[in-house]
Amino acid sequence: MKSQVEEVRSSFEAEAAEVNSSASLQELKVRFLGKKGTLTALLKSLGSLSPEERPLAGEALNALRDELEQKIEQKKLKLIQAEDAAAEAGDRVDVTMPSRGRPAGAFHPVAQTMHEIVNIMQGLGYSVVQGPEVEEDYYNFECLNMPSWHPARDMQDTFYFPDEGGERKTLLRTHTSPTQIRAMLQYGAPLRIVCPGKVYRRDNDPTHSPMFNQLEGLLIEKEVSFSVLKGSLRELMNGFFGRELKNRFRASYFPFTEPSMELDIECVECGGENSGCRICKGTGWLEVCGMGMVHPSVVRAGGINPDEYNGFAFGMGLDRMAMLKYGINDLRYLFNGNVSYFLSGRDA
Ligand code: DAH
Repeated sequence: MKSQVEEVRSSFEAEAAEVNSSASLQELKVRFLGKKGTLTALLKSLGSLSPEERPLAGEALNALRDELEQKIEQKKLKLIQAEDAAAEAGDRVDVTMPSRGRPAGAFHPVAQTMHEIVNIMQGLGYSVVQGPEVEEDYYNFECLNMPSWHPARDMQDTFYFPDEGGERKTLLRTHTSPTQIRAMLQYGAPLRIVCPGKVYRRDNDPTHSPMFNQLEGLLIEKEVSFSVLKGSLRELMNGFFGRELKNRFRASYFPFTEPSMELDIECVECGGENSGCRICKGTGWLEVCGMGMVHPSVVRAGGINPDEYNGFAFGMGLDRMAMLKYGINDLRYLFNGNVSYFLSGRDA
């Protein structure tokens, strides 16, 4: 029996030296300690020994079993550590591991655009305010120098709510400009705010949707000059598009600013190089923003003395900005539920 114990031990040692994975260690364990294992067979044979031999042989075999079990446990620990280290070092790819997956969903391009623009403006010291989408005629038109007879209202026909007595005094706001007045009344001067939000008009064609998004900006301080407005908007455009863009300020008209301007930037698609460009229609310029020095009567309607304070305002279409930045060529893609266009980056 003694020699058999030695034999088992030495064959175990030899085989254990070859083991290099948890799987082959498990096989080794089965070969020696499993139901039909070498050592188990010897333990079973104890019964056939004489009563004198049995205690000694039993002791030796039990000691061997404890020894083998201990060695297997030690080896297992070492192998697991080595395997973990190798996996961490990228030597081993566990193909059975569940994938990390992709986060579902993303910001809508208009929301993303809004966040980017707001971020830049916050860097210039502006705060974000919100105004109601269901607005009063007074804020939307009247105090922005658009009395009921004013022809500028024609461009901003909207949806009205029936009021008592059939008056049309409550409407869906046609632009974010009414928040200028609301913010001035609420916070006073000096003031730097931006207001992003939804606006509504009675338009519905390939380039106009009855609901769209704007961002209004307003700065009220003492002795503000037009150059501050130009500098701020250049900063905003270059920051948003991520590069220095040519720009030009064109004289324009808005009832609530005087003087009024419009900002054009160089075509982000063709840079003015392509006379057949669909984005700038071959002009090389893109109209991005209306603006001007806030009209004194608007400042007054905001409860601020226009002899003491002045400022500028601007308003831009966020949908248009998103389309320009992300190369989206049809406004309707922004509002329908078909995401394949955005996933493929092409017409779907
Ligand atoms: N509210 C104007 C529109 O919707 C855009 C605009 C133009 C806003 C000039 C302004 C501004 O604040 O100064 O067409």
